[in-house]
Amino acid sequence: MADVESIYQRLIAEIKQIALLGSCASVLGWDKQTYMPKGGAGHRAEQLALLVGMIHERATAPQIGDYLTEIENSDLVSDPYSEAAVNVRELRRDYDRAIKLPRSLVEELARVATIAQQVWREAREKSDYALFQPHLTKILDLKHQEVCALNTGETPYDTLLDDYEPGETTENLTRVFSGLRDELVELVGAIAESGKKPDENILTRTYPINQQEEFGKTAAAQIGFNFDNGRLDITTHPFCSGIGPGDTRLTTRYNTHHFSESFFSIMHEAGHGIYDQGLNDEYYGTPMGSSISLGIHESQSRMWENFVGRSEAFWTHFFPKVQAAFPDALSDVSERDFYAAINTVAPSFIRVEADEATYNLHIMLRFELEQALIDGGLKAEDIPGVWNETFEKYLGITPPDDTQGCLQDIHWSGGGIGYFPTYALGNLYAAQFFEQARQDVGDLDAQFAEGVFEPLKNWLTEKIYSQGQRYRANELIEVVTGKPLSHEPLMRHLRAKYEPLYGI
Ligand code: CO
Repeated sequence: MADVESIYQRLIAEIKQIALLGSCASVLGWDKQTYMPKGGAGHRAEQLALLVGMIHERATAPQIGDYLTEIENSDLVSDPYSEAAVNVRELRRDYDRAIKLPRSLVEELARVATIAQQVWREAREKSDYALFQPHLTKILDLKHQEVCALNTGETPYDTLLDDYEPGETTENLTRVFSGLRDELVELVGAIAESGKKPDENILTRTYPINQQEEFGKTAAAQIGFNFDNGRLDITTHPFCSGIGPGDTRLTTRYNTHHFSESFFSIMHEAGHGIYDQGLNDEYYGTPMGSSISLGIHESQSRMWENFVGRSEAFWTHFFPKVQAAFPDALSDVSERDFYAAINTVAPSFIRVEADEATYNLHIMLRFELEQALIDGGLKAEDIPGVWNETFEKYLGITPPDDTQGCLQDIHWSGGGIGYFPTYALGNLYAAQFFEQARQDVGDLDAQFAEGVFEPLKNWLTEKIYSQGQRYRANELIEVVTGKPLSHEPLMRHLRAKYEPLYGI
């Protein structure tokens, strides 16, 4: 019989090959959303389906289960945070989830979701929830079947959460979100009552696209995104694709009459990209060379977009540059007014357009609804009513129709239930990491004001990026900051920013 070390090497070699197949699919997926001509859609779907099938077959091969079993009982994994132990722990998790789901269920979910997304687009356009509702009911039924098949012993909603944020629980989220919600509703209310309204019109003047691209790239490079190992292209819905070592693709969209739309989406995606570029190449394809969770990934995009990119110190350095890049739009604007405009807080209906403060309330509403749908017996037909009622309670306004209410997001139509909380987790993790970085790295504001971002990036690389999946998200936050996740750092950040801006 082969010794454990060589079994482990065989397992890793196979896992790396599966990852290479996955990265081929990533290139095709990136191309589909950037340069592929419309007519190529059918052929591309076949290419992707072939790759997905090959990946599934190899990832669920009994051989992998056998390798894992042999290694699990050996000394190789006796230290739970060693490279081998981490890889085996996470590969076991992925393998068990993959083999527990019957192929028929996976295919049925994919089929139903494809149709549901088409219908959702039409329903959103017509603001006709009744059109979408039977499809959502089907999706919810299939998600219940998925929970039964996975049979994790957790509550159904926890099982779904685990897909996006391994180890996260409803109980923990409820603890953190409920503290955040009360203080946030109060802060957003006080901002509204302050009567102060920054002049947002300065952001909707004319911003030529070529200059937007150049300025966005300059800022992304300066905060630490490496363009020798990455690109920036145009798409409808901005995303970042970490294709593999030396190749991280960012995308954005440009609007001549909106500065923030592309600039902050470039900063956001560059944040995701800096994380991907900071992963340890030596471990590529294995859990030790992979990002931890959607919540931690989002913490990095939010950190570079909001905690850095919307900070006063950042614009101390960049305002003269943005003014020089867009003289027609900004020559008569002061740094103070520009900073206030990019930090406007106002309740709005659409999540993706929400500001840094109100955004989290949009997520808590979805978290409550998802829980009620999965664990609490809420029916799909009751969603619009409950949505609008909760929205009014949190944000003080009622959506005029379902397009601006419960039909706005694509997630549920694609079977993505349990995904939304990771967005708010991203903000919470970002705040707690950032507070710790301030303590460890020195005066970040003074550094940003000089256009220096490397000390922060190096700290994040050491503490988070290079660690791969050594820790689960809820462990990592304790390892790095010494405390479990709390809503307090985020509230401290929001108060420190908005109280002086709004004079409250
Ligand atoms: Co993101």
